[in-house]
Amino acid sequence: MKTRLTKLLGIEHPIVQGGMQWVGLAELASAVSNAGGLGILTGLTQPTPEALLKEIQRCRNMTDKPFAVNLTILPTIKPVPYEEYAQAIVDSGVKIVETAGRNPEPFLPMFKEAGIFVIHKCTSIRHSLKAEKIGCDAVSVDGFECAGHPGEDDVTNMILLPLAARRLSIPFLASGGLGDGKGLAASLAMGADGINMGTRFMVTQEAPIHKRVKQAMVDATELDTALIYRSLRNTARVFKNSIAEQVLEIEGQPGATDFEDIRPLVQGAKGRELFEEGDLDRGIWSAGMIVGLIDDIPTCEELINRIVAEADDIINERLQQLATA
Ligand SMILES: Cc1cc2nc3c(=O)[nH]c(=O)nc-3n(C[C@H](O)[C@H](O)[C@H](O)COP(=O)(O)O)c2cc1C
Repeated sequence: MKTRLTKLLGIEHPIVQGGMQWVGLAELASAVSNAGGLGILTGLTQPTPEALLKEIQRCRNMTDKPFAVNLTILPTIKPVPYEEYAQAIVDSGVKIVETAGRNPEPFLPMFKEAGIFVIHKCTSIRHSLKAEKIGCDAVSVDGFECAGHPGEDDVTNMILLPLAARRLSIPFLASGGLGDGKGLAASLAMGADGINMGTRFMVTQEAPIHKRVKQAMVDATELDTALIYRSLRNTARVFKNSIAEQVLEIEGQPGATDFEDIRPLVQGAKGRELFEEGDLDRGIWSAGMIVGLIDDIPTCEELINRIVAEADDIINERLQQLATA
């Protein structure tokens, strides 16, 4: 399956693993790249820009295929030296970056000068058009189904993707709610050049998180995610555990939400401990509605091959038969 993006990114299959805080380490990114997709290291998972350089080197030792680095520009509890992380990416020689969160414009000159291909992840058509205008090479269109930050518009991929196909000239990935061959075939049908998956890649053998977290997502249904921080206009889709429910309860109280009331529940360090120790109610973790379609914990290679084979079968068998019936 060759698309504009498989060619531009130098990958075999049109499948990308989105940046994931605490999850996007070299083990996962290299496994995805070795399986013919595009693995992405999460820049800010590394405590310093120097540590990111080391992680990039570790990933290079694990794969000779292309991989990318994610730079997420969002409000954080602790201030982040974004410029220094961006410089580390340039210095590393990595040639693909996934940006997300705020407008990546301040970092584009340095990325472009270094010949870096920039994929900006956004949750609306207006932000996708803006990304195209400022010179991003591609976008990832993150629908309302997605894990993490779906924005505030609540538009699903059934609408976003055909709109992106109509309005964008640059290639785009479908992101959010994808995890099987049906999703890949449908995304390609709606005009996307491939898919970006987060949650589905968390539930693989190589994802560096506790197996209880993976099993919780296998056991979950499509109803087991929650939208927190709505009252702060910084909505996040997370797994619906007792901590997410407590956050929702605080947000549901009359009057404006004070983040200080929520902060102790949602600290990043607790999310990291949850992933390491498998205590499912230690903190919160991002998870998308696709949990409802996840039934097993395959290797990245098994997963990617299965998705491509299923999509191929749909396109070349089912749809062909329908077209010629
Ligand atoms: C555990 C987890 C952490 C994530 N952290 C980030 C992040 O730090 N930066 C980012 O741009 N996206 C992050 N995402 C979003 C993914 O890159 C991707 O856009 C999203 O998961 C797509 O939706 P899906 O989970 O339905 O596939 C995260 C997703 C998950 C599941």
